[in-house]
Amino acid sequence: MADTNKTATLTLDGQSHDLPVLSPSAGPDVVDIRKLYAGAGVFTYDPGFTSTASCESAITFIDGEEGVLLHRGYPIGQLAAKSHYLEVCYLLLYGELPSAAELEKFETTVTRHTMVHEQMHNFFRGFRRDAHPMATMVGVVGAMSAFYHDSTDITDAWQREVAAIRLIAKVPTIAAMAYKYSIGQPFVYPRNDLDYAANFLHMCFSVPAEEHTVDPILARAMDRIFTLHADHEQNASTSTVRLASSSGANPFACIAAGIACLWGPAHGGANQACLEMLREIGSVDRIPEFIARAKDKDDPFRLMGFGHRVYKNFDPRATVMKESADEVLELMGIEDNPTLQVAKELEKQALDDPYFAEKKLFPNVDFYSGIILEAMGFPTSMFTPIFALSRTVGWVAQWKEQLSDPALKIGRPRQLYTGADQRDYVDVEKR
Ligand code: CMC
Repeated sequence: MADTNKTATLTLDGQSHDLPVLSPSAGPDVVDIRKLYAGAGVFTYDPGFTSTASCESAITFIDGEEGVLLHRGYPIGQLAAKSHYLEVCYLLLYGELPSAAELEKFETTVTRHTMVHEQMHNFFRGFRRDAHPMATMVGVVGAMSAFYHDSTDITDAWQREVAAIRLIAKVPTIAAMAYKYSIGQPFVYPRNDLDYAANFLHMCFSVPAEEHTVDPILARAMDRIFTLHADHEQNASTSTVRLASSSGANPFACIAAGIACLWGPAHGGANQACLEMLREIGSVDRIPEFIARAKDKDDPFRLMGFGHRVYKNFDPRATVMKESADEVLELMGIEDNPTLQVAKELEKQALDDPYFAEKKLFPNVDFYSGIILEAMGFPTSMFTPIFALSRTVGWVAQWKEQLSDPALKIGRPRQLYTGADQRDYVDVEKR
């Protein structure tokens, strides 16, 4: 971040207040209001953070107008096509692409941390079988701080590193266990001879009673889904992780907070909601009815998988996801998948509709991901856990970056108070 020679001036009650303007390496300049309250005695008001940069970060950059998403400067399309998830994890965590030796060491380290404490199996058994896997994940990831005490001291760089590796390695195991538990099957231990994505598929779809071979093309598609979700700068769940961490909370508690936030249908829960919507639409002839509902101000219905706070042209992740959907369905021999037909026609009709064009609403990453995951055999309830395990590295990278930021302060927004003035308590018999 560099100081520009520019200054923004706020005039209030005839008095001028100069505010420094900071220049990022990419993206719009930022007016620095840190001393505004001390100097002018006013707060700024920005619910939803539509115009507020909450931190300085060098990890991910999005240009929403141009549909650009860069991780440490590398475009997401290149990473999805040429790299793989664990290499992207390394890039997000350490800032550079690894050498062959660095990558091998990192992959070995992550692989050797995939098992969870055996006592966690008992912990799982306390949940109801019909609990949503996200509910189980919030609880179990939070409980990691009760199982891994030796990596909760955030002032110790080594412990921070161990916590980061543990989270990236164990969250897929926890997600797979949540799934197995929900369908009443035995937990499947991780396998160190499989790569990250293949191991996850094996933990989800194998049973001890018989051999199970993971199709390498499905593992590649799974890896691509992980890669496309790996990080997305200061979205709601990442900001939740940063806010939780700003108090000095331990990493497992912070990531559990991120998982809780991700679950909402406006965020990571949109992939489940989108597939359920596509199923509800059911056939292309019903699309106009649902488009009309999405446009109706008196109907709370929204097209799930459409729209984004930052992307106002297209979501580059959605482009790759759509290609993957075609590939996976072809591989699975699922010809004429009715959900995919509805999705493609819905996308076409919505994009031709002036309502969506004017509001700059386009398909986002969640529009096609559910179709791929369903074709792979996942129930809808597992879609958001898969998003959560993919995003864990982004949360962890942002958490590590935050803790090494000298400007770190506890996150403490102010408010525009609209409640009652001070008044005197009235005894209950006089009310
Ligand atoms: N369908 C119909 N109308 C919409 C939609 C939609 N999906 N999204 C936004 N709008 C309208 C909205 O009604 C509003 O209209 P008006 O200006 O007349 O009041 C306008 O577009 C702007 O919407 P907003 O809610 O103010 O925009 P936002 O930036 O606060 O919300 C969003 C972004 C992603 C929450 C929203 O577009 C949405 O709810 N989309 C559906 C859920 C979804 O797909 N979420 C996944 C996002 S990508 C993955 C992730 O981040 O996890």
